[in-house]
Amino acid sequence: MLVALEVDRNVPFEIRRVYYLFATADGVRRGGHAHRHLNQLAVTVRGSVTFVLDDGSGPVEVVLDDPSRGLLIGSMVWREMHDFSADCVLMVLADQLYDPDDYITDYARFLDEAGRRAYPRRLAACRGH
Ligand code: TYD
Repeated sequence: MLVALEVDRNVPFEIRRVYYLFATADGVRRGGHAHRHLNQLAVTVRGSVTFVLDDGSGPVEVVLDDPSRGLLIGSMVWREMHDFSADCVLMVLADQLYDPDDYITDYARFLDEAGRRAYPRRLAACRGH
């Protein structure tokens, strides 16, 4: 099998960084943060991992175990990963270089920032009706 990842064809952003995780020890949980601006596409090139995603409205669990499918994670989504299989190779494409200032690592702060961003959107939606 061969999978090609191409900007604008199946990757909806300009790729500025690629990183990958592998040899994750049994029982390890990763993530535990959101990004203010970063967009990412995650692909398990091998093995499986469970993502827990939360945009502020509650957690959604996604098992990623198919190298022909990608998980798009937009900005302002809290993410945690667990249950890495021993053989898991998780590749992540990103539209920005690594920037520690883009991270939100405190969940309460994430909810606060997400709520403040959602409020003007909800207000705009209300005005439309
Ligand atoms: P982090 O984003 O917290 O990883 P995860 O969400 O998988 O737990 O990054 C872990 C460490 O790696 C942290 O010290 C920052 C460093 N890092 C880089 O230097 N460059 C990168 O592109 C990434 C993603 C992390």
